[in-house]
Amino acid sequence: MKKYLLAPSILSANFANLGKDIEEVLISGGDVIHFDVMDNHYVPNLTVGPIVLQSLRKHGISVPIDVHLMIKPVDTLIPIFAQAGSNYITFHPEASEHIDKTLQIIKENGCKAGLALNPTTSLNYLDYVMDKLDIILLMSVNPGFGNQCFIPNTLKKISEARKKIDNSGCDIILEVDGGIKIDNIGQISKFGANMFVIGSALFNSHDYKTVINDMRKEIETS
Ligand code: DX5
Ligand code: ZN
Repeated sequence: MKKYLLAPSILSANFANLGKDIEEVLISGGDVIHFDVMDNHYVPNLTVGPIVLQSLRKHGISVPIDVHLMIKPVDTLIPIFAQAGSNYITFHPEASEHIDKTLQIIKENGCKAGLALNPTTSLNYLDYVMDKLDIILLMSVNPGFGNQCFIPNTLKKISEARKKIDNSGCDIILEVDGGIKIDNIGQISKFGANMFVIGSALFNSHDYKTVINDMRKEIETS
């Protein structure tokens, strides 16, 4: 994989013009599309389901799609999201009765699997499944909404997760999600993240290319 990945989050995109908006962030240099699924049960917001994902594939979006499931229960929807065109599927351990089994369902359906940890969810959840993870997603805001402020304590958690990954010898992406802006992405990268979800900082700007280039500069000089 590339040294690091920028993952524009469609949560802040223009849903009246989703296909075109995604094409634009990809032309501007986004690597992966981050697809936030919310159910108004596990999190207090409601977004989109597999039909939208499938439509994006039919529209011709061919880059990897990183599906962040903020839904409970989660197991029965995984095959449907896989079928719709997901590459990565992450879920929250609190939303699964049997975490190891849920990871297995993701893999059986041909996707890369990951755990998404809320700001106060312990890294201990990782301990007995490191060898089954392709991705660890650390939430740096409470899940549910875009455009929130980065929680500074996440930095310590990023470096602890980075140590766990390095000690494990496993090939695991460390993704951070929430409140990432041009002025903090360098620091987030320095603490050990290598995949960055960018929502409002990108879609609320009028110049995607400049934001992406500025973020890459910050990462590469940090
Ligand atoms: C929040 C979502 C994020 C969100 C990030 O629950 O998981 O992916 O879209 O948005 P920003 O970058 O605006 O914090
Ligand atoms: Zn997300």
